[in-house]
Amino acid sequence: MSVSGTARPVGLPEIAQAKGAKGATPIVCLTAYTTPVARLVDRHCDIVLVGDSLGMVLHGLDSTLGVTLEMMILHGKAVRRGTERALMVVDMPFGSYEESPKQAFRNAARVMAETGCAAVKLEGGTTMAETIGFLTRRGIPVMAHVGLTPQAVNALGGYKVQGRGPDAERILNDARDVAEAGAFSVVLEKVTEPLARRITQEIAIPTIGIGASAGCDGQVLVIDDMLGMFTDFQPKFVKRYAELGRDAEAAIAAFADDVRSRRFPGPEHVFGDK
Ligand code: KIV
Repeated sequence: MSVSGTARPVGLPEIAQAKGAKGATPIVCLTAYTTPVARLVDRHCDIVLVGDSLGMVLHGLDSTLGVTLEMMILHGKAVRRGTERALMVVDMPFGSYEESPKQAFRNAARVMAETGCAAVKLEGGTTMAETIGFLTRRGIPVMAHVGLTPQAVNALGGYKVQGRGPDAERILNDARDVAEAGAFSVVLEKVTEPLARRITQEIAIPTIGIGASAGCDGQVLVIDDMLGMFTDFQPKFVKRYAELGRDAEAAIAAFADDVRSRRFPGPEHVFGDK
């Protein structure tokens, strides 16, 4: 069963059906933060994620902790304009959902109403299960996110691989608890392959991996990473499908050179009287 072969638009049932059935095609997800990129992603992916990674990727922040609800809504609206088929999910930023289920509902409802997304994503396992249950029972579909949860970078002591040693059992319980609470899928970030495979076998909802091996039910990457936008950042788990950063820099240097040497604009770029 392939999500990409289903009638448009992709909904939660199609995502659920992509779970582990024999011959199931993995779920494909990329981030997008703008309308033109969303249009490209929408043509090829099952899920478009407006990730709070936009704080680092677009806004130059050191971590995702400074991302606000307003930033997520602004980019969410832009992505919605470019999304026709893919299931659109928007990240809940740090501080917008952890305090209480009611706070999470208020802010998630605002994100859904203002962006038109189909679901929200929030980070955390067992500790967020009550909130996930509260949201899903009230009509807000939730994608969970366990393993390396970047909003907890300070508590985790960096962006380290998760699930080596005794931590594995805790992460497995996190995944079980978010699934039982009603999440429709769960992102597994930077967890070891054996743990990702075990979680994927043991829980009933699709796992979507980032740095978590082909043992997951689907894969997600940050689009700027896979397009090679950054020449100085290449995590082990990212495959680069283009070198846009390098190509953009060469184009900008060529433009600067052309202007300085008066090769641009040429006669073909100017307007005459007629
Ligand atoms: O913010 C983000 O882009 C994410 C993905 C990396 C899963 O959470």
